Amino acid sequence: MKIEVIGLGYVGLSTAAVFADSGFDVIGVDRNAGVVETINAGAVHIVEPDLEHIVQKAVREKKLIAKTLPSEADAFVIAVPTPNSDDVYMSCDLTHVLTATEAILHHLRKGNLVVIESTIAPRTVEDRIKPVIERKGFTVGKDVFLAHCPERAFPGQILHELVYNNRVIGGVTPACADKAAELYGAFVKGEIIKTDSKTAEMCKLMENTFRDVNIALSNELAKICCKLGIDVLDVIRLANKHPRVNIHTPGPGVGGHCLAVDPYFIYATVPDTAKMIKLARDVNESMPDFVVESTQRVLCKDRTRPIAVFGAAYKPDVDDTRESPALKIIEKLNTLGYETRVHDPYVLNEAYVSAENALRGAGLLLCLVGHSDFRRLDGGMLRELMARPLVFDVTGTLALEGVEIVNYGNLHRYVKGKKGAQAGLVRTRSRT
Ligand SMILES: NC(=O)c1ccc[n+]([C@@H]2O[C@H](COP(=O)([O-])OP(=O)(O)OC[C@H]3O[C@@H](n4cnc5c(N)ncnc54)[C@H](O)[C@@H]3O)[C@@H](O)[C@H]2O)c1
Repeated sequence: MKIEVIGLGYVGLSTAAVFADSGFDVIGVDRNAGVVETINAGAVHIVEPDLEHIVQKAVREKKLIAKTLPSEADAFVIAVPTPNSDDVYMSCDLTHVLTATEAILHHLRKGNLVVIESTIAPRTVEDRIKPVIERKGFTVGKDVFLAHCPERAFPGQILHELVYNNRVIGGVTPACADKAAELYGAFVKGEIIKTDSKTAEMCKLMENTFRDVNIALSNELAKICCKLGIDVLDVIRLANKHPRVNIHTPGPGVGGHCLAVDPYFIYATVPDTAKMIKLARDVNESMPDFVVESTQRVLCKDRTRPIAVFGAAYKPDVDDTRESPALKIIEKLNTLGYETRVHDPYVLNEAYVSAENALRGAGLLLCLVGHSDFRRLDGGMLRELMARPLVFDVTGTLALEGVEIVNYGNLHRYVKGKKGAQAGLVRTRSRT
């Protein structure tokens, strides 16, 4: 059986590699010729554990071949980007999905299966994709089978989660769901749950929205506690002793291609109703400003020394900077006249520097991402290199001997102005 995967990014390339590893003949299609060339050379263009190994093997065994244009296949899996549109609701931009669907139309035959893996607004498959296929004269559910099989994989462990997560498969008709479930059953070891396409679309969006709303709650709590002079990290630790409470850890905001994007797809579809979803987005979007204001407080607006910024990715241990709150914070600090030196061992960027070069002579280490590498930071190195060993850790993960650490738990002392950074050392405090 020949499978064609359109869009070879985090989701598409991982899925193509897993299909190839399960014995299918896979054609990967990407409009980016550089991506195609890299994959055909047995390499990968994204950082994802074990992906290079499995792609290399599939390419060597000729089970995976990359191309820039689609051709005939038995099943087509579309995994192209779905960014927010540039409208007031930040609705789902379907341009890439529709372009990819149009591109395969030419090669569609009776009996083919078309799967949309891209995250899409509710009712998209039924209202937008099905008509495109039926315009070609096919009856969906009889001639061509169409389904939405959203991806739940967690960047950093995509390959494991692709196989072991439970998978919701939404067919336009029950026959469509059956066909797609049969295909994914070739490698999915989790439960395969069949439903209709609109339920699968809403289910995927609500999973990310649930997480966004819960993060917003903890971020709002951090701001409230800061105003009231309460240690938010203590509050969360104690509240989570309740058997049915699990408050998240506050952070610099929400980034990535899912949580910061997908909730708007629901909001844009029903803006008068999805009020809590929008409010949560607003709270999370406000966090970079909160971090910048807090950084200014911690530094007493002293701009004489550079800020060593640790972390540019949107979350720990990945190279992905899409929608990263860290990038927004860096940009805002630069606009305010602060010199920033960015260090991120995961992100390839010529402007970023080594830990030593970032720290040398710096007046503050601003930790924005809880990369595992940062946990191995040594207090001695900070004391030796920095003009002053002062850390503002919005991830709440650093523990450094003999270094003044400000985090959301003790930030209120600075924000209230009772203990400015230049008024003397506060009690060194770290959390793990
Ligand atoms: N990254 C994740 O963790 C994740 C998780 C779940 C769902 N999703 C969803 O999966 C979809 C893909 O996300 P991603 O992170 O893999 O994206 P990505 O940006 O990493 O990769 C997308 C690839 O598609 C290619 N492309 C775009 N339009 C094309 C076209 N018309 N024809 C051929 N190739 C095309 C691009 O060149 C790119 O290489 C999105 O809808 C996203 O929301 C992503």
